Amino acid sequence: MGRIRCDRTVAWSALCALRAQAPGGPDLRQEFSRDPGRFEALSQNAPHVFADLSKNLLDAAITTQLFALARECGLESHRAAMFAGDAINTTEKRAVKHWLLRSPPPVPAAPMADPDLQAVHATLDAMLAYAELVRADGAITDIVNIGIGGSDLGPQMAVVALGAHGGTGKRLHFVSNVDGHELAATLSMCQPQHTLFLIASKTFTTTETMTNAHSAKLWFEAGGGADIARHFCALTTNVAAANAFGVSTTFGFWDWVGGRYSLWSAIGLPIAIAIGAQGFRDFLAGAHAMDEHFRLAPLETNLPVRLALIDIWYRNFLGFTSRSVAPYHSALRRWPAYLQQLEMESNGKRVDMQGDALPFGTSPVVWGEPGTNGQHAYFQMLHQGMDVVPVEFVAVRTPEHHLSGHHDKLLANALAQAQALMLGQPDSGGHRDFPGNRPSTFLLLDVLDPASLGALIALQEHRVFVSGSLWGINSFDQWGVELGKLLAKDIEPRLRSGDATGLDASTAGLLRKLRAG
Ligand code: F6P
Repeated sequence: MGRIRCDRTVAWSALCALRAQAPGGPDLRQEFSRDPGRFEALSQNAPHVFADLSKNLLDAAITTQLFALARECGLESHRAAMFAGDAINTTEKRAVKHWLLRSPPPVPAAPMADPDLQAVHATLDAMLAYAELVRADGAITDIVNIGIGGSDLGPQMAVVALGAHGGTGKRLHFVSNVDGHELAATLSMCQPQHTLFLIASKTFTTTETMTNAHSAKLWFEAGGGADIARHFCALTTNVAAANAFGVSTTFGFWDWVGGRYSLWSAIGLPIAIAIGAQGFRDFLAGAHAMDEHFRLAPLETNLPVRLALIDIWYRNFLGFTSRSVAPYHSALRRWPAYLQQLEMESNGKRVDMQGDALPFGTSPVVWGEPGTNGQHAYFQMLHQGMDVVPVEFVAVRTPEHHLSGHHDKLLANALAQAQALMLGQPDSGGHRDFPGNRPSTFLLLDVLDPASLGALIALQEHRVFVSGSLWGINSFDQWGVELGKLLAKDIEPRLRSGDATGLDASTAGLLRKLRAG
């Protein structure tokens, strides 16, 4: 079946009619009292992840139409096209195959072995062998990953999240910003002879990364370092540029891996150093299990699909413009930042695949902080503010520490917040009045380990694919980041020369201020 943009479907009109009947969506408290089986109907297991969707503003009629919408839009054929390796990233004429990075190795001697899969596993084996060498290298105490965007956020998030697994005693640093304060602060903690730099850049042209890499190399050489091959390693699709930069130790990947989907590739080397080769294989296996779930489960029990359909219902019908993510685990503190790039860079688009302007909203603003910290900052607004902001909790059943009492308090708070958002306190009036009926999703992991984190990430990747697919946009390009890069190139020499010719009055005024004194 061909693809149809969501707003041109029969189901979209049906959903508009349902919204018209109840503009704020159903009342959760009534839905729970009407249906004692609501929790069972709206919760499910997926690989490594249990999801409770029952506190979302859904009823049976809405749910039925959302699945009809997915089918009418041709989601299943689009999903099949991605897994078939079709060039679904049409504006860049590329396939979208990050899922292949976590596929099991080809069967030896299989006559039709996919050459891409063979290349994936050859690189993976080499990279993991290198990771083990680094882990065993007592002379290397500090590893500095220099990269930005997808070459930073995913690996950093995963390294922080899995800090308790397979520790090496080595310090892993992440430097992304072109702001020299960041690199300077990191270098002040390192010594050239004990430091390994990982230069992570898909393109090996990104200004921030190249500037930091140059400065790191200068610092290394100025400190007496000579063996670049031992102390610098490049992770890139542009091996020629890395060689030209002077780095001969390289691990490659392919143009069919988007930057924000690249932590499964050579870009994941810092993760492999942090958790070891077996840990990284477990991480890939967890993600692969979620790939298979997404590829094969019927839409009605397909967790990425269900999450994305709720996202669409909220964004396009109930008018919610943001989603707050609340990981109740401090090791997931980079989770919101990682999700911001994944979702907002993928789906923050205003034209469809044909380049036609869209008449509806796309990516919500994704934001958040770990619980319970967020409760003492912005949860006030979530409970009593004017805007309804769906919240996505992530909790982990078993902690990795042995301090008594903490984890029960943490989990109790996560449950209590979800409960308070839903139930409210409608009878007390005035300043103490909580309207309630505020939706949330609760994702639960048994443990935070490489496999469960892999599955959780793949879940989010596929969810973003589904909403982008129904919206009819290209989730795999990012033209919106280009204009600022171009203008910065024009402005940078003006900061030195003071030339304001042709600039708008505000930029010219700020340029003068920056040069004054
Ligand atoms: O910000 C735009 C972007 O292209 C991201 O999509 C990407 O993850 C990041 O820059 C870094 O790019 P690279 O890995 O090529 O240095």
